[in-house]
Amino acid sequence: MAEEPTPEALRATLDRLTPILGRWRGQGEGSYPTIDSFEYNEELHFELHDEYPMLFYEQKTRLTNGEASHWETGFVRPVDAGIVELSNSQDSGRVEVLRGEIPERSNPLVFRLRSVHHGHDPRMVETEREFRVDADRLEYEVRMATHTTPAPVMTVHLRSRLTRA
Ligand code: HEM
Repeated sequence: MAEEPTPEALRATLDRLTPILGRWRGQGEGSYPTIDSFEYNEELHFELHDEYPMLFYEQKTRLTNGEASHWETGFVRPVDAGIVELSNSQDSGRVEVLRGEIPERSNPLVFRLRSVHHGHDPRMVETEREFRVDADRLEYEVRMATHTTPAPVMTVHLRSRLTRA
C-alpha cells in the first residue's frame, strides 16, 4: 500500500509554487477550430492559505471589446509529494480538476497539469494547462479536446502573458 504523504511533504510541495503567488494582469488570445478567434484581458491571483494548506485562486477575463467573458475560481492543493491538484468552478457551470507535478527548484518555474475530471459540460474530453513563471512574468497555455470537433484532439484554446500587478 502506498504511504500517506507527511504534512511536511505536502507543505514542501506547496512551497514549490511560491513564484506564482500574487496578483497578475495581462492579455491573451483564444482560438479553437469551431469558434472565431478572440483577444482578452485578464486578472489572475493566487494566495497561500497556510492553515489548510492550499492556494486559493481566481481568474477574471473580459474580451478586448469590454464584454465580460470567462470567470473561474478554485484551489490548488498538494495531494502527494511533488503533486498538486487544481480544482475549479467556472462561470458557465462547468467544473474541472487537473493534476500534475511541480518541479523542485525550477527557475523559471514550468509545470503542466492534465485533467482528471470534467463536470457539467458534455463537450469536454480532456484539458491541459501549462504555466511558466519567470520572476514578474507569467505565461500559460490551455489546450483542450472536445466532442465539438469531428475527432477530439488536444488543440490550443488559450495563450496568455501576464505581469505582476
Ligand atoms: C481565459 C479563459 C477563457 C476565455 C476568455 C474563454 C473564452 C471563450 C470564448 C469567447 C468562446 C467562444 C464563445 C463560446 O462558445 O462561449 C469559448 C468557447 C469554448 N470554451 Fe473557452 N474560454 C476560457 C477558458 C476555457 C476553459 C478553461 C475551458 C475548459 C475547461 C473552455 C472551454 C470552452 C469550450 C468547450 C468552448 C466551446 C468550443 C466549441 O464550441 O467547439 N474555455 N471560450
